[in-house]
Amino acid sequence: MAELMYISGFGNECASEDPRCPGSLPEGQNNPQVCPYNLYAEQLSGSAFTCPRSTNKRSWLYRILPSVSHKPFESIDQGHVTHNWDEVGPDPNQLRWKPFEIPKSSQKKVDFVSGLHTLCGAGDIRSNNGLAIHIFLCNTSMENRCFYNSDGDFLIVPQKGKLLIYTEFGKMLVQPNEICVIQRGMRFSIDVFEETRGYILEVYGVHFELPDLGPIGANGLANPRDFLIPVAWYEDRQVPGGYTVINKYQGKLFASKQHVSPFNVVAWHGNYTPYKYNLENFMVINSVAFDHADPSIFTVLTAKSVRPGVAIADFVIFPPRWGVADKTFRPPYYHRNCMSEFMGLIKGHYEAKQGGFLPGGGSLHSAMTPHGPDADCFEKASKAKLAPERIADGTMAFMFESSLNLAVTKWGLQTSNCLDENYYKCWEPLKSHFTPNSRKPAGLN
Ligand SMILES: [Fe+2]
Repeated sequence: MAELMYISGFGNECASEDPRCPGSLPEGQNNPQVCPYNLYAEQLSGSAFTCPRSTNKRSWLYRILPSVSHKPFESIDQGHVTHNWDEVGPDPNQLRWKPFEIPKSSQKKVDFVSGLHTLCGAGDIRSNNGLAIHIFLCNTSMENRCFYNSDGDFLIVPQKGKLLIYTEFGKMLVQPNEICVIQRGMRFSIDVFEETRGYILEVYGVHFELPDLGPIGANGLANPRDFLIPVAWYEDRQVPGGYTVINKYQGKLFASKQHVSPFNVVAWHGNYTPYKYNLENFMVINSVAFDHADPSIFTVLTAKSVRPGVAIADFVIFPPRWGVADKTFRPPYYHRNCMSEFMGLIKGHYEAKQGGFLPGGGSLHSAMTPHGPDADCFEKASKAKLAPERIADGTMAFMFESSLNLAVTKWGLQTSNCLDENYYKCWEPLKSHFTPNSRKPAGLN
């Protein structure tokens, strides 16, 4: 496969033409009476027309046929996709999942859409307020099938296996340790090359932004130029048996047939596009004296709520870095949080838990549910010599953190059969070290 091209930047106004059709973007206007190459013009609006310029998002697509050329949508099997947050009762316990099992291709062919499993979520799709966390488990490419989501944006975190994603804006190759965002309404189809697994954060009604940097200044964390946008690519392909367009609308799946590939956009311009980002490019900031900065320092992208500083969901990573804090318990601190914290592991070993939390698994620490290092980690870190040390080399853990109270689905709690019933035991060996008659810690640094 020839190396794919990308445009660099976050949220920019971009313009792209498939090089096979030079001049395919109309000059000086969006809607000529007849478009170059006799294409159709179609606007994709990702924000209300009247949003302020800073949040206004739309793109113009110049395509062989407009998206409207299709048979009616009909309801299809929902599989394990749901937005019913009352399937089972709430559970305040710390939850941890073993790696979610990928179906074997020799047993059952499963593509990205049929392999979607909703794990947890909250909020209301109809009022555009909330989120869902899905796990995708697949082994087969989508064949003459594409998907688009009317409900929200997908932030896709591949964990095992790379994804070749065809979109209306062009092609992206997304490998584990990279992420991509496919925003509401964008049609895409995914090729996979092995048994493939990953995580999806879906947010309703808002789009991901780079976090504000405050006193950090103009640079740092995820830098805008490291985000990559595909370049225009089209196929003029008839599909005699019909091409299936799958739509998630109000949480339900629908399908319609059309006779051509939907990836027939010859040129596009605008600021509403899919994009990808390599997590290796994250510029890590942390304490260089003592104590911890809060994990918000690791925020890659945020989907803001209307309350200042409060996110519908943040995407946070724990990348390789130096640990240098003096006189400090260096692993993550013990914590109770008004936010809900879902964690996943792309590779390696998470610093606060050496066993049990494995690549392809997950954990959920819900609102005000206590969590923190296991007993072994506490004992070791309390006695460790505090030299500068590398932390998390070869590891990438991440967190979807939300201000909403997440409900876990029946699949998450039961059907997946991956819930680790023994998770709580990792804290049971924690013992009191209290010395009421001596303020000076004994045997510690
Ligand atoms: Fe926490």
